[in-house]
Amino acid sequence: MLDKVSSHYTESVPVITIDGTSSAGKGVISRLLAEEMGWHFLDSGAIYRVLALIVIRKKIPQDNVPLIVAAGTGLDIQFVTEQGRSQQVILSGEDVTAAIRQEECGNVASRISRFPEIRSMLIAKQHSFRRPPGLVADGRDMGTVIFPKAKLKFFLTASTEERARRRLLQLQDQGINATLDTILKDLTDRDERDRNRTLSPLKPDPDAVIIDTTKLSIDEVLQQTLAHVKNMHF
Ligand code: DC
Repeated sequence: MLDKVSSHYTESVPVITIDGTSSAGKGVISRLLAEEMGWHFLDSGAIYRVLALIVIRKKIPQDNVPLIVAAGTGLDIQFVTEQGRSQQVILSGEDVTAAIRQEECGNVASRISRFPEIRSMLIAKQHSFRRPPGLVADGRDMGTVIFPKAKLKFFLTASTEERARRRLLQLQDQGINATLDTILKDLTDRDERDRNRTLSPLKPDPDAVIIDTTKLSIDEVLQQTLAHVKNMHF
């Protein structure tokens, strides 16, 4: 009974989902849209990345599902947003914001996320972000699996070359050395894995609004998403 009441309560909280390929602009657009609307923000990729960081640090083999599930059960992750600063990711009290953005973490996250047991373990955590007045959820399967009844769904794409260029700039900003060729290869491999896994593959929901961000500025993409939001009655 209690479960029914609480799930009914949460289901009345509106959700906008933003899925898409790596470096297509999902992260920044989701954050800006959440800010604009005064809603909560879920960076689901960060949850997979935190689990990947634990796997790397504990040297757990990347296909040892029971050990990964054990390491991730009861994961103590917090997302902290202070005024004017981007979101910080805290794992058991430690700020891991920079550590989880390393390429290695993204690649390991993509590898371990193909296992159904690992995806199931993280569902409740992702649902817990759905709180009033609303949620903007960023990921690969937000609109297809995690919040299938979301009223508004977006799917962002961009050419691989443009995404690699953006990723290179991001890494250079963080003082990390990388070449366009390695990034291109990483992105292509990651997309391939994310698209071809059996469970929750990366694909647009049939209801999703698809936006190709290749030639658009961040503000232009934001304005397009806001134009759709204005037509909705949440
Ligand atoms: O969005 P990101 O690059 O931070 O995500 C890192 C990896 O995590 C991505 O390559 C696949 C996985 N992921 C996923 O499987 N499902 C999600 N909802 C989000 C991320």
